[in-house]
Amino acid sequence: MFLYNHWYVAAWSTEVSGQPLARTLLNEPVVLYRTADGQPVAMEDRCPHRRAPLSLGKVVNDRLQCHYHGLQFAPGGACVRIPGQERIPASVSVRTYPVAERYRWVWIWMGNPDEADPDLIPDYRWMTDDQWGAKGDRYHVKANWQLIVDNLLDLTHLAFVHETTIGNAAVAESADVKVTRGPANVLVTRWIIDQPPPPTYAKVGNFPGPVDRWQFIDFTAPSFLRLHVGATPTGTGGPQGNLEGGIQMRNLNCITPETESTTHYFWAQAHNFDPHNQAVTDLAFEQVSTAFREDVVVFEAQQRVIAHCPDSKEIDINSDAGGIQARRILARMHDAETARQSVPA
Ligand code: FES
Ligand SMILES: [Fe+2]
Repeated sequence: MFLYNHWYVAAWSTEVSGQPLARTLLNEPVVLYRTADGQPVAMEDRCPHRRAPLSLGKVVNDRLQCHYHGLQFAPGGACVRIPGQERIPASVSVRTYPVAERYRWVWIWMGNPDEADPDLIPDYRWMTDDQWGAKGDRYHVKANWQLIVDNLLDLTHLAFVHETTIGNAAVAESADVKVTRGPANVLVTRWIIDQPPPPTYAKVGNFPGPVDRWQFIDFTAPSFLRLHVGATPTGTGGPQGNLEGGIQMRNLNCITPETESTTHYFWAQAHNFDPHNQAVTDLAFEQVSTAFREDVVVFEAQQRVIAHCPDSKEIDINSDAGGIQARRILARMHDAETARQSVPA
């Protein structure tokens, strides 16, 4: 199940250059490149002549030239050159997709282009804010995108999957959890009071004793999860809003379906303590990277089980409260998109 009328991250800005980049997004083969003045372009990755992938070709004067017989396509998608042929039928073109560059990512709109309003791109300002350091990655995950949404909305798994980094027993057993649902988003707040800091927090925060730790998970449909996390020394008033003496981080996730069973998982970790210290940025990134690779192992194993027994059932437990709300929002949005028949053929 895909939702089309949304922005998705297609690539890190650094991935898109004058060399064509092939990337499958929502099951559609797409080619991305940049014009000489730096504008990103996204086209379907299929030449209308004999269906060679255009990503095999090269960029010539801002046009994408097919590797096979040299047809050229302008950034708007129109065919502008057919070697050995003067007349170019106006109907010869490739589909293009609206793109926008923001927060160090190239975003793409896979649905109805008339609705592609860049103001709808979710806020990831911590990626570019001078008061924050941020570093991220893209993981290619052999699992359905919704398994990753579930994962980030139920952080009790930290106690079991991530005990060497961001987890400890307290995160599953001692959290005060609240779930609030909006029309297109879910907010899960978790407070873990007067507990030892997990290993990562002990490393980056140098806490002398127990901490009050928070995890605020903002899910915005279809697949944006912005986690505001941090800790203050117990007794210094963190739960009352005094975050002095603590650490704050933003864990930023943009989950882009590749196919029904594979995903481009874009994520980054941002911190506001010592924001220009590359060693701190690297340490926070490495810690989360270790943890997220542990998640990928679980996602891919789940996917194998699901593929083997697609009709097998699941049960829900208390900690699924946020994930269940997210699934309802996604199902409702999918029904609405289908009803409007705005899904491209
Ligand atoms: S297949 Fe692209 S030019 Fe022939
Ligand atoms: Fe995890």
